[in-house]
Formats: sequence, structure tokens, C-alpha cells
Amino acid sequence: MLKFAPSILTADLSRLAEAIGEAEAAGVDWIHLDVMDGVFVPNLTFGPLLVEAVRRVTALPLDVHLMIVNPERYLEDFARAGADLITVHYEATPHAHRAVQKIKELGKKAGLAINPATPLEAFEPLLPELDLALLMSVNPGFGGQKYIPRSTERLRRLKAMRDALNPRCLIEVDGGVNLSTVAEVYRAGADVAVAGSALFNDRPVAENLKALKEVLYA
Ligand code: DX5
Ligand code: ZN
Repeated sequence: MLKFAPSILTADLSRLAEAIGEAEAAGVDWIHLDVMDGVFVPNLTFGPLLVEAVRRVTALPLDVHLMIVNPERYLEDFARAGADLITVHYEATPHAHRAVQKIKELGKKAGLAINPATPLEAFEPLLPELDLALLMSVNPGFGGQKYIPRSTERLRRLKAMRDALNPRCLIEVDGGVNLSTVAEVYRAGADVAVAGSALFNDRPVAENLKALKEVLYA
């Protein structure tokens, strides 16, 4: 079964607790939090304070996606805020290995993310130590972008790499997952799908999730 991690980026932040409650009741698996610094990506979102607030309103695992340069600086803060899984970008630090080690020392699950232009081989040295390999299927920065078709082939290759090097590492796909692409990413090997605009839009989350699952398991 594909796990769903709704990104709150496209939720109505003025009623975030309700949106998360709705997602939890609908049966989503994780909550995905997109942290952006306006440097690594051309957008700004939120930091540990909001993660801490979300922690108070849900028991679901919090999947924190750090799109910030030198993420090492803030790992402790996000761990303390209640993140269960912390993902750093390969491109955002010269010391991705150190960052992954630090996340694990903090007692959290560690993820590494790569952008669409980064060769998949970037995962290889760290894969044996990862809990999550996050493949970006859009350029990070904004919700509601179009899935980059080449990502499907990259997912297939990542799955082969994961199966060989660390079968317990989960593969997460992030960006443009919707009714048209969800079956394709699942078949290509994704274990977890981030979905922002496909889950948080003008329809109820439960309806959106049901529609996605129908496409998957029909
Ligand atoms: C993009 C973020 C994604 C994004 C997903 O930078 O990492 O999590 O918000 O949104 P959708 O599903 O709308 O592409
Ligand atoms: Zn994300």
C-alpha cells in the first residue's frame, strides 16, 4: 500500500488544525511539512515553531522536509519541535553525511532528498544509513507544480538501488502527485507519496484521498 503524506503547504493555514484533523480522519499516514528558507528555494515558509504547533494537534508521524541551506544548524530545533523524520537536501550542504548522522544521534529517522537535476548516484554513499530517500518530482519551492515525467524512470532506478543497498529504506516521491500520476509513481516503486494540492483543495480531504486510492487499487 502506498502511504500518503499530505503537505500542509497548500492547506488553509488559517485553519490548519482542522485541516490536519480532517486529513487524519481521512486516513492519511504522515504529515509532510515543507520548510523553506528563501535561499535554497525561492520561497519562504515556516520553521520549528509551526512544527511544534502541528505536533500538538496530531499523533501522526511528522515528516519534515528541510529545503534550507546548511540544515545542520537547525536539526536540534526540529527534533525538539517533535519531528519524527527529518530530511535534508543533498544539494544544500557539503556535509550531507554529517547531517544524516546528527539526525540519527537526535533519535530521529533520517532522510536525504535530491532535486530533479541531481544524478541519482548522489544517494548511493548514504543509502545504507537512510530511513528515507526522497526523490523530488518537481523543482522544490512551490506546491501545485506539474510532475516531471522523467521522474518515473528515476524512481525505477532508485528502487533497484534501494533494493540492493538497503531494503528497509523507504522511497518518497514529492511534487505533482495527483490522480493522473499517482498510479505511475506507485508502480515505479514509491512507498510514500507527498501530496499537497491533490489532497488540500476545495474538496474534502477524505474525498480526494478516496479518489487517489481508487485510481491505485481499482
Ligand atoms: C515542493 C514541496 C512539496 C509540494 C507538494 O517544494 O516539497 O511537498 O508542496 O505539493 P504538490 O503535491 O501540490 O505538488
Ligand atoms: Zn516536500
